[in-house]
Amino acid sequence: MSAQVRLYEVGPRDGLQNEQRIISVEHKIGLIRALVAAGLRDIEVGSCVSVNWVPQMANTDQVLAGLDYKADVNFAVLIPNMRGFEDWRIARAALPRIPGEIAVFVATSEGFSKANLNCTVAESLERVRPVVEAALAEGAKVRGYVSCVTDCPYDGPTTPEAVADVAARLTEISEMPVSLGDTIGKGTPERVLAMLRAVKRHVPAERLAGHFHDTGGRALANIEAALDEGLRVFDTAVGGLGGCPYAPGAPGNVATEAVMDRLAELGYVTGLDRAAIGRAATIAKSMRGRA
Ligand code: HMG
Ligand code: MG
Repeated sequence: MSAQVRLYEVGPRDGLQNEQRIISVEHKIGLIRALVAAGLRDIEVGSCVSVNWVPQMANTDQVLAGLDYKADVNFAVLIPNMRGFEDWRIARAALPRIPGEIAVFVATSEGFSKANLNCTVAESLERVRPVVEAALAEGAKVRGYVSCVTDCPYDGPTTPEAVADVAARLTEISEMPVSLGDTIGKGTPERVLAMLRAVKRHVPAERLAGHFHDTGGRALANIEAALDEGLRVFDTAVGGLGGCPYAPGAPGNVATEAVMDRLAELGYVTGLDRAAIGRAATIAKSMRGRA
């Protein structure tokens, strides 16, 4: 099994969407530049969602306009529907012709789907379909998220079979990589293992990523469980930024620097520059928690 692990940085989106105050375009771009300098090659830089739902992401088009584009750096944007896709397409039209990536998102549980997307799980899967088709037609890459893979803040624990079913229905739309979100950080290694074993009956480990919020302090242990199940991509947020505004109790994606350090102890290689990650973490922490 490969000792190479890829960290997919979600701090500028998952992290900053939860901050009380609006972070300026320049400050966000400074953080993203620091992440690229540290060696991160997949960075979710924002989302094209309703400003009424997540005002912190309203300047994503300006962030996209200010980034430095290189062939080996993948800047991704989270997209909930065709309106978001059109906004992304317009923002991207003025940018260098590199593929770019969009991320679509669905949940395992009805309660979270309603709170986060104002629709049922089945409706969200139908919304995703034209977005995926349009993105692929544009030559963009597509990634999918499944939220609440162990627990939902509204409906309680989720079953491995329910997660597997939603992951299977998402990847029937297209063979995309799927990031499995422990949205409120309640998962334990045992439950993560059971969930992954169920999901792997439909989606191979090579196409799965682990997305662990660290609310319960078990994200690193859950990552180790996922490593044992063959996963080699993990979503992290520098400085431990993070959360989801529609998941009460979800502050803190697992910190990029903590995951990098733990992986190094376990003998895995991330290819990141630790000192430069520390500098990016300092920028990230300067953005936190000021109303
Ligand atoms: P809705 O209110 O049902 O939307 O929300 P609507 O279609 O009825 O439209 C209402 C208004 O919003 C209209 O404007 C639309 O044009 C506008 P009006 O006519 O009233 O002026 N609108 C939009 N504006 C900008 N961008 C758009 C867009 N779509 C409609 N894309 C909607 C439905 C999907 C829009 C809303 O629920 C939404 O934006 N949800 C996103 C919430 C979000 O971003 N959550 C955080 C990300 S998910 C997450 O963090 C979990 C993850 O990290 C994994 C894990 O941890 O598990 C990925
Ligand atoms: Mg998240």
